[in-house]
Amino acid sequence: MITTGQKIATQRTERSRLPETDLENIKFGRVFSDHMFVMDHEGGSWNAPTIVPFGDLRMSPATLVLHYSQTIFEGLKAYRSADGGVNLFRPQANIARMNRSSERMCMPPIPEELFMDALLQLVKMDKDWIPKGPDAALYIRPFMYASDEYIGVRPSDSYKFVIFTCPVRGYYAEPVRVRIETEYCRAFPGGTGEAKCGGNYAGGLFPAKQGQDHGFHQLIWTDGLTHKYIEESGTMNVFFNVDGTLITPALDGTILHGVTRDSIIRIAKDEGVRVEERQVSVEEILVAARNGRLRSAFGAGTAATIAHIASISFGEEEFELPQVAQRELANKIGAKLDGIRRGTIPDPYGWMVRVA
Ligand code: COI
Repeated sequence: MITTGQKIATQRTERSRLPETDLENIKFGRVFSDHMFVMDHEGGSWNAPTIVPFGDLRMSPATLVLHYSQTIFEGLKAYRSADGGVNLFRPQANIARMNRSSERMCMPPIPEELFMDALLQLVKMDKDWIPKGPDAALYIRPFMYASDEYIGVRPSDSYKFVIFTCPVRGYYAEPVRVRIETEYCRAFPGGTGEAKCGGNYAGGLFPAKQGQDHGFHQLIWTDGLTHKYIEESGTMNVFFNVDGTLITPALDGTILHGVTRDSIIRIAKDEGVRVEERQVSVEEILVAARNGRLRSAFGAGTAATIAHIASISFGEEEFELPQVAQRELANKIGAKLDGIRRGTIPDPYGWMVRVA
């Protein structure tokens, strides 16, 4: 574990924007809470961790990240708990993943203890921004970028690490229509698919837009070498229920190590569900869909939680999947995950971390 003894300085906003914010009607990712955490890496160490009012970041047009995309991020959530408190969901997993991404992208790791303190203090300061009701949470966005003012391709010497938060409700308003993508790919062996870096998402925009132009909410990505194996769905991991077995692509280096993915697998196994993490061919999913054995499919991610897939398209074929109400397995796992997060059922895994 990377540790540090640094204390976080805080500067509270003089005027909260909360009274003029309608938390009942928020669009995902459009509303930002009052404060943010900032810290700079210079001269080989992280310096001056501070919580300040949420606001713009000043940067030179020559800032490295703007040109060569040396940037990584995370997404996690804080929830109101049934006992009146506030909890973070599996923050250690996001901290660990961010530090794995940082290694892949030649960026400095963030001391775990300091990262955790920053999350806890920031969420504590803005806990009143957490909306109430089902689907509601405070989405937390830590990110780091190369901050050298320099034109040239090399790792930056300096970095900025920021955490801000957004009150959110559901990411998708309805079950998603997806298309299996066999022309473009999101990642390839030896690439950055496993890292949560900005470039992975930017590269997916064009094929995703083409899909949207044809009426699809998301794509199902296939492997970059053969396009025969399923990888992820849009910005989420993907699961298929074939005859009661939960099948998901194995983490082979090109797929994001989803925290929601991991949580679903653990809950499903504890519920006695057979779970298979392995190569999943497009063909087997099509065959299962054609003969009615594909009972459900869903995406899994922090923002979306469980995003039910309404239909899957491949070429000229389109398969409508059963109504959400009939998806016993996905609904059961989703309810358990939600119950743990909101403190309505016990947390046997020690996933929830209390914001004091
Ligand atoms: C998340 O699920 O946290 C992501 O980063 C995906 C993005 C679509 C919000």
